[in-house]
Amino acid sequence: MSDLIDQIDKTKTPKHIAIIMDGNGRWAKQKGLDRSLGHKEGITALHKTLEAANEVGVKYVTVYTFSTENWNRPKEEVEALMNLVSYSVRLETPTLVSSGTRLECIGDLSRLPKAALESIEYCKRETAKGTAATLILALNYSSRWEITKAAQDLARKAANGEIRPEDIDADMFSQHLATANYPEPDLLIRTGGEQRISNYLLWQISYSELYFCDTYWPDFGRDDLFKAIIEYQNRERRFGKTSAQIQAEQV
Ligand code: IPE
Ligand code: IPE
Ligand code: MG
Repeated sequence: MSDLIDQIDKTKTPKHIAIIMDGNGRWAKQKGLDRSLGHKEGITALHKTLEAANEVGVKYVTVYTFSTENWNRPKEEVEALMNLVSYSVRLETPTLVSSGTRLECIGDLSRLPKAALESIEYCKRETAKGTAATLILALNYSSRWEITKAAQDLARKAANGEIRPEDIDADMFSQHLATANYPEPDLLIRTGGEQRISNYLLWQISYSELYFCDTYWPDFGRDDLFKAIIEYQNRERRFGKTSAQIQAEQV
């Protein structure tokens, strides 16, 4: 049987893939299960997806794990999600260590329950030496939170006289975002059929390729990731230039 990996050009693997892991609730509902079981199954999908990303040498994977708006869900679901974060981050730590994957987080972690914070701290410590890849969890994250915070930090620096307002440019702004240490995503994948961004990495995806698929996140896996990468590799990223210019640059 042919393997989709053979269709991937390893010299053009996206360096950074951002994922909106959506559809857990609908996956559970269609099976007559509780939504929390959809989230649990979502961890298995993430495990498989990370394994596949490693196979093709993706360096950064940023996954939307919990948005600032997700606090508005029923209390039991929020609790189940937070418990799942505590449990799964700890459980997955040995796998991350053995694949050389470092765990990092973006978002306002101060609002997370203590048990979740402890698991995250433990996993970050254990995986700190990983150099093969970085897994970034967007937790209590939203773009508007992040951009507002960057604006506050810059305004504070200007008010203190550390910078002049006219020093602020796109690079300086990027450096004040939670993602300052990472390259911008090359590819953004959203599963679950919705074609929207839901307050995710708005600044960073300015020139990312967007890929939407109907598959509910718990059903997503190796082949689905490879399909997304193959489609990405068939697109021409022009960054505002003409196709002729891009082709001339490639020779
Ligand atoms: C994504 O799946 C996981 C989180 C938002 C935490 P959903 O829970 O949004 O699943 P649907 O969209 O309701 O099916
Ligand atoms: C986005 O999914 C957040 C995560 C995947 C964590 P949502 O399910 O919360 O987004 P909307 O409500 O459909 O826009
Ligand atoms: Mg959803």
